[in-house]
Amino acid sequence: TVKAVRGTLLDISEIGSDLVSIENNLRYIKDGLLIIHQGKIAFAGEWEDGRDSLPESLRICDYRGKLIVPGFIDTHIHYPQMEIVGAYGEQLLEWLNTYTFPTEMKYGDKRYAKEMAGLFVKELLKNGTTTAMVFCSVHPESVDALFEVCDQRNMRMIAGKVMMDRNAPDELLDTPQSSYDDSRRLLKKWHKRNRLLYAITPRFAPTSSPEQLEKAMALREEFPDAYVQTHLSENTDEIEWVKSLFPERNGYLDVYDHYRLTGERSVYAHCIHLEEQEWQVMAETGSSVAFCPTSNMYLGSGLFNYPKAVKDNVRVGMATDVGAGTSFNMFQTLNEAYKVVQLQQQKLSALEGFYRATLGGAHSLYLDDKIGNFAIGKEADFVVLDPMATQVQQLRWDNSTTLSEKLFVLMTLGDDRNIYRTYVDGTMVYSCTR
Ligand code: GUN
Ligand code: FE
Repeated sequence: TVKAVRGTLLDISEIGSDLVSIENNLRYIKDGLLIIHQGKIAFAGEWEDGRDSLPESLRICDYRGKLIVPGFIDTHIHYPQMEIVGAYGEQLLEWLNTYTFPTEMKYGDKRYAKEMAGLFVKELLKNGTTTAMVFCSVHPESVDALFEVCDQRNMRMIAGKVMMDRNAPDELLDTPQSSYDDSRRLLKKWHKRNRLLYAITPRFAPTSSPEQLEKAMALREEFPDAYVQTHLSENTDEIEWVKSLFPERNGYLDVYDHYRLTGERSVYAHCIHLEEQEWQVMAETGSSVAFCPTSNMYLGSGLFNYPKAVKDNVRVGMATDVGAGTSFNMFQTLNEAYKVVQLQQQKLSALEGFYRATLGGAHSLYLDDKIGNFAIGKEADFVVLDPMATQVQQLRWDNSTTLSEKLFVLMTLGDDRNIYRTYVDGTMVYSCTR
């Protein structure tokens, strides 16, 4: 159960809220060694310092010339939407009605859901993503299907059944009571089974009645260490709709806050059009944002105020939001994030982007004691990158002098071709065939 991996190591050791310190906490070991014992990091350091502790007979995976980084973390994605990525022409509400809801209807069929869950997880691993926070469909079968696939590979995954009892096609509706019963049963079955975690998943305020949100609140109170995931303040029409559906509440986030769905381990996708007092609630409650740049550009939702989130100390993780997002790939997601920040006359450095996709993602999911870097005892999920998978990347890489310049090349030009191998729980689960 001991494994050794040699190559260039890159990670960020623990940092607090102070992002300025990323540079000081970057660990870059040119000839490095990772030793994995029973799926956990037992050693991460210089090859020269660790080699003597290795048993003679142990075969060492030699990745010299490659870059070994912690597995990427996608803090918001919909697995039933893999098949509608790139659907043309609509903004959020029409997009849901035209493409999303009809597709999600298929996931009541367990066999179909299982097949698609298998393809979904394969696609994550092919992109170096080892942890994701996932929306299933309204059907309990879809949740079992995904967790079964993830459990087989012993992945650190978070997922949940969509709760949705209004404003969607009848075939996709549950009821307050059935959503409570089904979610509770799934939660008890899957939450903390091996590395799996359950998220209570009201789709978004417009598709849940007050009665259903009360049921979500009851679940959260009964299982305080479970997660909550939903959508927040993505699109201006959506926000107006929420205000008309919940006139008694003081804005969109107040709907969730009223039902005690804010707090640690609550993850809100988008948060584009937050008002000042909503930012404060996000920060005070320790709620997290899933920043979904490819989705936000694609649906024309708007520009996430990333600098504001950082300034206000709100936890932010990167997210693809497939199928509104257009790529499973974290480099592509960072590439778009960079542009979103550029359009607001600010910068997102490569080091900060790398932090967001690894340890920062773990921080936003309250999992930074388990994943996100190569600290001793952490779970051994990592990616072996080929930083020069294309001719242009090679030219740019050779022309870059500093590490942060080189990482920036990867962040802007990188994609799944740069993922050479992916490891989960110390085991290789993807190998590029080129
Ligand atoms: N808001 C409610 N449901 C969805 C969804 O499936 N995708 C996105 N992007 N936003 C949503
Ligand atoms: Fe989403």
